[in-house]
Amino acid sequence: MCGIVAYTGFREAYPVIMKGLKRLEYRGYDSAGIALLNGELNVYKKKGKVDDLASAVKGLKLDGHIGIGHTRWATHGEPNDINAHPHYSFSKKLVLIHNGIIENYAVLKQDLLNKGHLFESDTDSEVLAHFIEDIKEHVQCSLEEAVRLALHKVVGAYALVILSTDEPQQLIAARKGSPLAIGIGKDEFFIASDPTPIIEYTKQVVYLNDHEIATINNHELHIKRLDAIAVKPYIHQLDMELEAIEKNGFEHFMLKEIFEQPKSVRDSMRGRINADEGRLQMGGLNEYLSHIVNAERIIIIGCGTSWHAGLVAEYIFEELARIPVEVEYASEFRYRNPIIRENDIVIAISQSGETADTLAAIELAKSKGAIIFGVCNAVGSSIPRATHAGAYLHAGPEIGVASTKAFTSQITVLTMMAIYIAYKKGTITESRYREFLVEIDQIPSKIERCLQLNPQIQEIAALFKDSKNFLYLGRGYNFPVALEGALKLKEISYIHAEGYPAAEMKHGPIALIDQEMPVVFIATSDSSYEKIISNIQEVKARSGRVIAVVTEGDQHIKEMAEFTIEIPATHEALTPLLAVIPLQLLSYHIAVMRGCNVDQPRNLAKSVTVE
Ligand code: G6P
Repeated sequence: MCGIVAYTGFREAYPVIMKGLKRLEYRGYDSAGIALLNGELNVYKKKGKVDDLASAVKGLKLDGHIGIGHTRWATHGEPNDINAHPHYSFSKKLVLIHNGIIENYAVLKQDLLNKGHLFESDTDSEVLAHFIEDIKEHVQCSLEEAVRLALHKVVGAYALVILSTDEPQQLIAARKGSPLAIGIGKDEFFIASDPTPIIEYTKQVVYLNDHEIATINNHELHIKRLDAIAVKPYIHQLDMELEAIEKNGFEHFMLKEIFEQPKSVRDSMRGRINADEGRLQMGGLNEYLSHIVNAERIIIIGCGTSWHAGLVAEYIFEELARIPVEVEYASEFRYRNPIIRENDIVIAISQSGETADTLAAIELAKSKGAIIFGVCNAVGSSIPRATHAGAYLHAGPEIGVASTKAFTSQITVLTMMAIYIAYKKGTITESRYREFLVEIDQIPSKIERCLQLNPQIQEIAALFKDSKNFLYLGRGYNFPVALEGALKLKEISYIHAEGYPAAEMKHGPIALIDQEMPVVFIATSDSSYEKIISNIQEVKARSGRVIAVVTEGDQHIKEMAEFTIEIPATHEALTPLLAVIPLQLLSYHIAVMRGCNVDQPRNLAKSVTVE
């Protein structure tokens, strides 16, 4: 949530920061702002998107080689010009941008009000700017020291960057719980919430760790921990290319990412599977292999789409590796007192690797002695660093707020993990193991065939775009697909949609069905086929409009449903990887036809770094 960009160096800071903010808009887009220091310290901010800010400052003189910028997802204070970042300190000599929540801001604010401070905004971030300055004045110390002392008193999460007229060559950044990457160029530095604003200038980045403060001064970077101990920066070499974060001719990132899935799923398998030779390796698991093979239970945690991928994994792990699995919303898991036994394994799934609830749930499980595996996409993000071991998705940056390619890559990686563990454990035979490898190897080309359904799905979308409600039903492996289909539709088109296990329909949702209600069945030819046919009949008997995703060549359902969408046959356990594709396309087209901003749906953000 919230995107941060800062620059110091020989370039003009304004274009670098604005371009960076555009790249980070997926993190929040209700207001944007920038501060430039060039003799004077000027702040420009505006409710709305980064483009609205750009229009508002058009024609102004925006010179300066040092500056900070922010794109906001509101927590404290409604989205408006005043609550937008950067925030000034009381004297207006210091400005700050912040991503996170200062939980004890009310106490700090009251203290400052008692001292005569006046505040312009309703934000917790402005309080922090005033608080840092107040400490600096009272202790008579450097800005860096004031930041360190202030952060000792702060409860909450933050990534922040500070710029001040007292130290005009200096940027100070600090992190606890919200990400920050520092790009190191030749005679220039970049700070950003993720490396996407940085990669076109330098591939060298330092990821700041929690409780660290970075000071960039006169072309030098120094990092200290909150306890004032100096830390040697560890420089990572990025292997991301610019083209991976651009639209490449697609109208939206979401559509590009849907169409990328043959490649992203293949990339998730790359170097791990060799179907011809019957080889599967999951290097990230080896160190803890005996723990996972002997696990008595697997607890999967995640949020949103990642939680849905966890549900698919539950079926696969139980079927193949015969290990009981529980799938938990990270936000629920962390606030009860979960029982974690010695032989339990926790798998944390997260595209961004930054979701606050998932991170907190990991810390809780760790404190109870669990071994944690991470399944993440964003390389160098917080979750992979907080876990004992894991596997990256290698799906490439996902920018559309609605997750698509990360979901299929998560399932791919989790499926490979399940097959690998089952094989090591001896719960599947050699021939079944080999069959799985051959089948999973064919998934990218079968996804390709699903994508060819796009024109047909566009036609269906045109017919249903004005529906008020949608129901998605599936059984077994396809139940999580129903949940994911419904989530995709509601998050980008704002149509109310519910996913349900098809048999549960009788216990409530059936009451909603009338001739207006589209019901999407995921009804592939698998072990629940006969049962789901009965559910289709039940919907038809109540005049519901049936759209069915079926296996290629299915004549039977074709005769019953108003529309059928045919996907290639595969192993039942791998069906979600194919069945979700038409559902992603359906929600995409409906949202576009309704005039919605599919890449930046209202109220949502891609990376939820607040609880
Ligand atoms: C947000 C995003 C979803 C995502 C969820 C979990 O709600 O909009 O697309 O599924 O967070 O994010 P994670 O990065 O942990 O997978």
